[in-house]
Amino acid sequence: MFVSENLGTNELGHLTIGGVDTIALAQEFRTPLYVMDEEQIRKHCRSFKSSMEQFYGGNGLVCYASKAFSCKEMYRIIASEGLGVDVVSGGELYTAMAAGTDARKICFHGNNKTLDELKMALSYGVGRIVVDNIYELNTLEALCRETGKKADILFRIKPGVDAHTHDFIRTGQIDSKFGFALETGEAFEAVRLALECKNLNFAGLHCHIGSQILDTQGFEAAAEVMMTFIKKIWDELGAEVRDLNLGGGFGIQYTQKDDPLPYEAFMEAVSVVIHRFCKENNMPLPFILIEPGRSIAAPAGITLYTVGGKKVIPNIRTYVSVDGGMCDNPRYILYQSEYDALIANKADQPKDTVVTIAGKCCESGDLIGENMPLQECEPGDILAVCATGAYNYSMSSNYNRLQKPAVVFVKDGKARVAVRRESLEDLIRNDM
Ligand SMILES: Cc1ncc(COP(=O)(O)O)c(C=O)c1O
Repeated sequence: MFVSENLGTNELGHLTIGGVDTIALAQEFRTPLYVMDEEQIRKHCRSFKSSMEQFYGGNGLVCYASKAFSCKEMYRIIASEGLGVDVVSGGELYTAMAAGTDARKICFHGNNKTLDELKMALSYGVGRIVVDNIYELNTLEALCRETGKKADILFRIKPGVDAHTHDFIRTGQIDSKFGFALETGEAFEAVRLALECKNLNFAGLHCHIGSQILDTQGFEAAAEVMMTFIKKIWDELGAEVRDLNLGGGFGIQYTQKDDPLPYEAFMEAVSVVIHRFCKENNMPLPFILIEPGRSIAAPAGITLYTVGGKKVIPNIRTYVSVDGGMCDNPRYILYQSEYDALIANKADQPKDTVVTIAGKCCESGDLIGENMPLQECEPGDILAVCATGAYNYSMSSNYNRLQKPAVVFVKDGKARVAVRRESLEDLIRNDM
């Protein structure tokens, strides 16, 4: 009935998350409110970690892609599960370190890391810097020379496999702002140059083929392409590639239409490809990294809103407005993403109406979704939007000077604030 397994209903007919009554949460912490279920996050971490153990002998590291949802409490949970993290900015890196993350387990990504960000990464001793382009390679080499540090680097590669939809497609994919192209020889040349850099340790390769991917074929194809490149480096440059980072992108259920795989299926599939390739070519197995973001955070979270006015436009549609919108969930306006939503105080009642849920921002496109099945509702009801744990809070903004909602974590029937609701004072804090 629900898209996420941690949701249910209680004897009052209210929606529960991790066993906690969402109406009680809305009353205590007000709305809009992000709610994250800690046990569910931990469960997802364990699925990926155990798949690495089971199918790859534990010879790898699962790094949580923290762009999906980032705050100190999340990094603490991730660290306590033994995962590493992927960061893409000085801000994510700073937050991860402030939460006590082991710098050696951090992968630092980004297509345009600033000088300050690179300096920060070196001073923290970040375990892997994923170099995106030759300018960055040269900058990092010079910085390491100046500071007397040696950095372990991976190169971001465009593997020519694009899996942005249900079916993966092989493309030249040269036209991407991320990484080095294989087919032009650019990636090979970068590796050759890196091997000459005295202050950098060329440790491996990285690729990321897309997001919300619901099958394993794209990952298998990418693993084959990357292993073939690793063999070329071995054959022609005599260098062993220690790490192979296959990125993230593992799909989840947003609506009943999505049919995701169990998380274990991805490592199982790529492991078969890598084992076979290494056996056939008499090569050592690389250390594997994967970077799940959405799959760890999204199904663990929901967003609660209070329903405001309803606007019935005869023969066209009915708008139901809520007290949030594109500021706390920009995924509809960005990608027309679909969600499952319900009236949390009528969770046991049938969805016998269809409405368009509108946010409160001054943009006509500010919607949570169009033509969504929903229970009959009235002002004051609580709307729950499901599977919003990823790319909602982390992409939120203060457009229209709306305050960002609080983030509450639930565990063992109790709730605690992980990020305070922004105050009006917070909004003018940096104004002169
Ligand atoms: C390099 C890299 N790794 C991991 C991820 C996480 O992807 P997802 O949240 O879909 O698992 C992304 C997402 O953009 C990415 O760019």
